[in-house]
Amino acid sequence: MIIESEILKVEQISKTFSGNSTPAVNQVGFTLPQGELLGLLGPSGCGKTTLLRILAGFEKPDRGKIYLAGRLVNDQTLLIPPEKRNTGMVFQDYALFPHLTIAENIAFGLQTKQTRLSRSEIKARISEVLLLVGLTGLEKRFPHELSGGQQQRIALARALAPKPSLILLDEPLSNLDVKVRQKLRYEVRRILKQSGISGIFVTHDQEEALAISDHIAVMQNGYLEQLGTPEEIYTQPASRFVAEFVTHANFLPAFRQGNYWKTEIGEFKIPVVDLSTEVTSGELMLREEEILLHPDDNALIFVSDRQFLGREYRYCLQTFSGKRLHARTTINTQLSIGTKVRISINNLSIPIFPE
Ligand SMILES: Nc1ncnc2c1ncn2[C@@H]1O[C@H](COP(=O)(O)OP(=O)(O)OP(=O)(O)O)[C@@H](O)[C@H]1O
Ligand SMILES: [Mg+2]
Repeated sequence: MIIESEILKVEQISKTFSGNSTPAVNQVGFTLPQGELLGLLGPSGCGKTTLLRILAGFEKPDRGKIYLAGRLVNDQTLLIPPEKRNTGMVFQDYALFPHLTIAENIAFGLQTKQTRLSRSEIKARISEVLLLVGLTGLEKRFPHELSGGQQQRIALARALAPKPSLILLDEPLSNLDVKVRQKLRYEVRRILKQSGISGIFVTHDQEEALAISDHIAVMQNGYLEQLGTPEEIYTQPASRFVAEFVTHANFLPAFRQGNYWKTEIGEFKIPVVDLSTEVTSGELMLREEEILLHPDDNALIFVSDRQFLGREYRYCLQTFSGKRLHARTTINTQLSIGTKVRISINNLSIPIFPE
């Protein structure tokens, strides 16, 4: 069943490139509500670009169905071409035409047979999208006369100009320096929200994904590992992989004792949550920012290193057995190297990954 408010519905999409033994995209399925932004996150080679190219119509999946705005655009027999899908794409390397002015670059997608806009309508639309991306007045410049951040805004304006129903952004900010990148990620979100266009935003950067997305999809080896809100992905990671990829966490071996989990670090015990009784060992996920440090001369853990990160300290701790743990504290917690510390955890439901 197709629900009107879904801009995209993907069912069981798989794709294996010829000559490859494993699929680049493996049975991926999800839906995206109209007007929302999905962050697509995962390590290099996990299939993010392939999935985007399939959605845009540049790549044909071996199996599966894709519905865009309620319309079937792809299945075993049907393949609607990219120009008829009403999607826009923005790439990592901006991909502006160097010999065309900014106005001509933006006009490029507007001069198709489908749109049939007049010259004055095209001019008006160029002004409108330049205003939206905050670059009014740059119509006559060439791409090389703009900064990297400005070029990427123009690439976004070009993709938005034909009013696509879905915009696909493949690591659009990864060529920019960190300051520009942090500013532009909120700009991208504002621009999409303001124009009511749904988007999929691919990134390697978990902080970027958490900061701007309504939903996050985490991929690994072609599979969709988890889909959820940023808060769900962060607080309830579905697998050890997601936990490691998305959070700054320690994984501490633990053994079950009755209703508690016992770890090597002192009297520290954790109530059992939502696990079958057969599970007797596993790893506790302790996020770095949830570890509280209490100086204690009788403790078996000591501070082995400390990094000052500006907003916070990151402490490296060493346990009796030699295992290393990391903790992030505010700059009010100042402990010198060698200090013995007891640990408590500021979280009532600690995730456990069974062995
Ligand atoms: N045209 C192609 N022919 C053969 N194999 C390909 C092709 N394109 C991608 N692949 C393979 O498919 C897998 C997924 O690649 P993809 O580019 O989708 O990954 P990605 O998640 O976008 O990675 P990155 O973060 O590095 O951009 C990789 O193993 C890659 O080598
Ligand atoms: Mg890629």
